[in-house]
Amino acid sequence: MNIPLLDLKRQYEQVKNEFNKKLDKIFEESSFIMGKEVSNFEENFAKFIGVKHAISVGNGTDALVIALKALGVKAGDEVITTPYTFFATAEAIATLNAIPVFVDVLKDTYNIDPSKIESKITSKTKVILPVHIFGQPADMKSIMEIAKKHNLKVLEDACQAVDSKYDGKMIGSIGDIAVFSFFPTKNLGCAGDGGMITTNNDDYDIICRAIRVHGSGNMGKKAYELMNNIKDDETEIVDKYNNYLIGYNSRLDAIQAALLNLKLELLPKWTNERRKLAKYYNEKLKDTSFVIPYEKNNLEHVYHLYILQSNEREKVEAYLKEKGVATGTYYKIPLHLQHAFDYLNYKEGDLKVSEYLSHRTFAIPLYVGMTKEEQDYVIKCLKEYDSSGK
Ligand SMILES: Cc1ncc(COP(=O)(O)O)c(C=O)c1O
Repeated sequence: MNIPLLDLKRQYEQVKNEFNKKLDKIFEESSFIMGKEVSNFEENFAKFIGVKHAISVGNGTDALVIALKALGVKAGDEVITTPYTFFATAEAIATLNAIPVFVDVLKDTYNIDPSKIESKITSKTKVILPVHIFGQPADMKSIMEIAKKHNLKVLEDACQAVDSKYDGKMIGSIGDIAVFSFFPTKNLGCAGDGGMITTNNDDYDIICRAIRVHGSGNMGKKAYELMNNIKDDETEIVDKYNNYLIGYNSRLDAIQAALLNLKLELLPKWTNERRKLAKYYNEKLKDTSFVIPYEKNNLEHVYHLYILQSNEREKVEAYLKEKGVATGTYYKIPLHLQHAFDYLNYKEGDLKVSEYLSHRTFAIPLYVGMTKEEQDYVIKCLKEYDSSGK
């Protein structure tokens, strides 16, 4: 039996007919960039997360860069984040010539360890950037308390955690600003690249909207005034040919928004399904040598990835591959040890928990539409490995 790590076709089957109708309309109207589908999706997403503003952008990485700029992060500023994440989290900080400051993670949730944050705060620190890794919310209560005490902003990297909840609140609505990715494999994925920024702050909304389109027109002017503390000059109306800021071209297109609008309606049902699949794995794998995910009881993990730990990870992955079961190695190199960050001068042993996990963690198949037969096969293979003493 062949089991992929995820099978996106099974999601597509559920939206296919409606999507094709929408696709036809988009081509008939030839309105491809931004437009009604995109503004509808922004409205729907803001409502879903429970925030005032949702600003769509080209991808999650751009969302991070633009959100950091909106928070006023500049060259030389320090941003505290986790090394146990996808590269883009820290890349976005470095893109602005700001400095990623890595804080180790907790051994159980794999999220940034709040007890280790304060000792890393300096006069240059501007932002704390927690990542809700694999779909499990970081300890937002502690993080928000530390941020408040030290007058720092919080940017949530929710790229893997759409629809997850912390103390009953939607992830993406707790920090000052948050970012999401709609990369196809994400729990809410489009058919290409896509991203979103969410915030309750009106100024950040204006700045993000301006920066995503070359800082042009009225929005560009307003953002420029906000960023430079200039009193709003309401009399002057400017057109899109006037550029006020150096920004980006980072927009969502109508085709992606059409698909995302349809998928968003199904997301709570899909999250439930993921959580049930995870629960079944947990029950069946709890007495094996594999460490199963730990879910804290004040939150809802959305299992973007179902992660196991093994001290024989490479051997287990090879065995599963032989049996037709795909796996994914997340995260093999913690970011403080990536070549691209050599200039930060971290060394092995600096962030022990992240390093420990990076030798042990891997993902097994979990996706919408996964059958019990498929799941039982994965479980059987893992148990076989365990009993064979390989
Ligand atoms: C935690 C995290 N941050 C940022 C990103 C970047 O998102 P994108 O691939 O849409 O640029 C990703 C996606 O892979 C991610 O998993």
